[in-house]
Amino acid sequence: MPNIRSLLNQTITRLQSTGSPTPQLDAEILLSHILKKSKEFIYSYPEFQPTKKQISDFQFLVSKRSKGEPIAYLTGHKQFYGLDFVVNKNVLIPRPETELLVEEVIRCFVNREPRTANRVLADIGTGSGCIAITLAKHLPRAKIYATDVTKKALTLAHQNAAVHRVSKQINFKHGDLLKPLTKIKIDVLVANLPYGWLAWKNNTSAESQGLKFEPKQALFTQEQGLKLYRQLFEQLTARRQRPKLIFIEFDPRQTVKLKALSKKFLPRYKQKIKKDLAGLNRILTLHN
Ligand SMILES: C[S@@+](CC[C@H](N)C(=O)[O-])C[C@H]1O[C@@H](n2cnc3c(N)ncnc32)[C@H](O)[C@@H]1O
Repeated sequence: MPNIRSLLNQTITRLQSTGSPTPQLDAEILLSHILKKSKEFIYSYPEFQPTKKQISDFQFLVSKRSKGEPIAYLTGHKQFYGLDFVVNKNVLIPRPETELLVEEVIRCFVNREPRTANRVLADIGTGSGCIAITLAKHLPRAKIYATDVTKKALTLAHQNAAVHRVSKQINFKHGDLLKPLTKIKIDVLVANLPYGWLAWKNNTSAESQGLKFEPKQALFTQEQGLKLYRQLFEQLTARRQRPKLIFIEFDPRQTVKLKALSKKFLPRYKQKIKKDLAGLNRILTLHN
């Protein structure tokens, strides 16, 4: 029976040959997950002999990984802003770019609203709930609403909110964009809606391989990825009361069109663009 060292070596070679960009890390994470042990354990006890069942479970996950399935779906977990989130195939895997969105919301909220921190925030297209839940943890006096059109995503978001003990602070609603919140006065709106388009779908780079395992309704939309943001702006114009602050994540290639859309529907708002760690435009902030 193979020990940890030989399992790791075989797996790294296999994942290298099937094109994983991070074969060693993948092998470590999957083995730690199956053994329910830390990475330190794996390297401290290379002679340790996993059981037959553990080896076959591990091989099963490795074969899925070798076909490009994202690690987060194989382990059922993803770290986001220092918190652990349960994920499954009904939700987008939280992205590092979105951590930047959350950071920006917290920064602006604390700077602009320090005395009135019991404001109402809305997270539109909540998915796993990672944005709403992280904001709830960092802004304990804020009241948060979170919407999604996918019922199964909301089920998971509820589960994550319970794990992080913020269920009372977040009101999850099923429905299209702002429609479930017509009677709610929103102070701060955050949205990471699907903004992918056809050119994305046809991208065959190694990093994009995992996209085919994620839900299409969480990734893609028409009008070069801007249909849902256009509809969100339209819904906002129809409301009597509009948020003071709006935060939107987007693809850098959409900068000009997204700014033009927001100018058209929300002309009174000042626009600010925040770049991501790669120096690319990523977050649009609108303030009134
Ligand atoms: C890009 S994912 C983002 C998920 C999560 N907010 C995150 O940042 O990881 C977009 C989410 O928007 C949801 N969605 C798509 N169309 C929607 C609509 N019309 N109204 C509300 N939510 C929608 C999808 O089901 C999906 O969960």
